Amino acid sequence: MTKRLFIKTYGCQMNVYDSVRMAELMAPLGYETAGSAEGADLIILNTCHIREKAAEKVFSELGGIRRLKEARQRQGGEMLIAVAGCVAQAEGAEILERAPFVDLVFGPQAYHRLPDMVARATHASGGQLLDTSFPPEPKFDHLPPVAGGTGVTAFLTVQEGCDKFCTFCVVPYTRGSEYSRPAADLVDEARRLVAGGAREITLLGQNVNAYHGLGLDGAEWRLGRLLRELAAIIGLRRLRYTTSHPRDVDATLIAAHRDLPVVMPFLHLPVQSGSDRVLALMNRRHTAEQYRRTIDQLREARPDLALSSDFIVGYPGESDADFAATLTLVREVGFAQAFSFKYSPRPGTPAATAADAVPETAKTERLAELQALLHDQQRAFNRSYIGRTLPVLFEKPGRHEGQLVGRSPYLQSVHAELPATRIGDIIDVTIANAQPNSLAGVPVSEEALA
Ligand code: 5AD
Ligand code: SF4
Repeated sequence: MTKRLFIKTYGCQMNVYDSVRMAELMAPLGYETAGSAEGADLIILNTCHIREKAAEKVFSELGGIRRLKEARQRQGGEMLIAVAGCVAQAEGAEILERAPFVDLVFGPQAYHRLPDMVARATHASGGQLLDTSFPPEPKFDHLPPVAGGTGVTAFLTVQEGCDKFCTFCVVPYTRGSEYSRPAADLVDEARRLVAGGAREITLLGQNVNAYHGLGLDGAEWRLGRLLRELAAIIGLRRLRYTTSHPRDVDATLIAAHRDLPVVMPFLHLPVQSGSDRVLALMNRRHTAEQYRRTIDQLREARPDLALSSDFIVGYPGESDADFAATLTLVREVGFAQAFSFKYSPRPGTPAATAADAVPETAKTERLAELQALLHDQQRAFNRSYIGRTLPVLFEKPGRHEGQLVGRSPYLQSVHAELPATRIGDIIDVTIANAQPNSLAGVPVSEEALA
């Protein structure tokens, strides 16, 4: 008998990858993925703990799900509720206590045991199960090979966890220590994804360029070498990787950007702050000048490279001068796009207990000023493509009938009039107009319409 599985995913792309893997794990047991929570036999919330209000969001979502479960029970049915991901890892015991109707709570390193946990929860006397262990054996050794077939673009986790311990960040505590998957497994997984229709693969890791996995030749491979191997897969047209750390941009990675056309000329390289003092307080272990030099080297290797970044404003002790240094760095580097956040203390991290908190009003002002600058840069970047041609990988139907939407090399959304048969193709599009978050254009070749 088929059962319905509904997964709601929060947060980063690695959670998206994990959700796909969880669905694949449950498919052989008769679970079909459903588009909504109503009538589901199993609901999984795959949660994120990176910034504020994450846990509150989960509890409010759980309130609604509880009502669905009760309604189903009144009709004589059952519904298992699971909380997975980083909030589960960090606050598992509290979830079980505050939400007694939750059946399963498990962390990012335990989800390969999902079928077993579901079986136990189904047949047991209804007790709650908690698994937030960090098993010595990587979960990847226990997951079945990827099924593929989930779309034109796919994610592939190559590295997980982090040993850098930036003072603001929960990741080392929720995802555990750094682990790199062997290259042989990754080549195999990438081939399966391409055979299933993927044309673009984004390599994922909390610290993806800290990758140091076992190579096909038995030596340790860094990310640049891995990219070289994956670039040779026939049918794979685009490679990306995220998220990188400035400290781990090495010569082989820069060479990969220079030598491999399938590696897209767009890089998300979080810097967090432009002040050396704040960077040191954050334990980032590089200076603003080192960041600029890294960018220069990357741009020398790949002159059309565009950049994205993450910024935190209002880190404890950040002065007006420190913040001004961030604005200066943004003006000097120039970003195609970026994410910026107010610092929020995360329980258990070193910065959470720092004394010299920045007042909320100053955080708000700084964030607004930084975002205004970043938005200007993004708008200017997008506008600079009006009248120029971009190769677009078309992924799915667009907003309007007869339209498709895809991505440029720089991850801009691009709309064009094209038949659905062109999904999965890379087509040159002349850009006619630019919105802050998307572009629209006309395919260069009339043949594209045939
Ligand atoms: N407060 C605000 N932003 C944070 N980030 C990570 N931890 C925090 C925090 N405690 C941001 C960083 C990181 C991105 C994923 O989230 O900019 O690069
Ligand atoms: Fe968090 Fe990234 Fe720093 Fe690791 S490198 S602690 S994931 S911000």
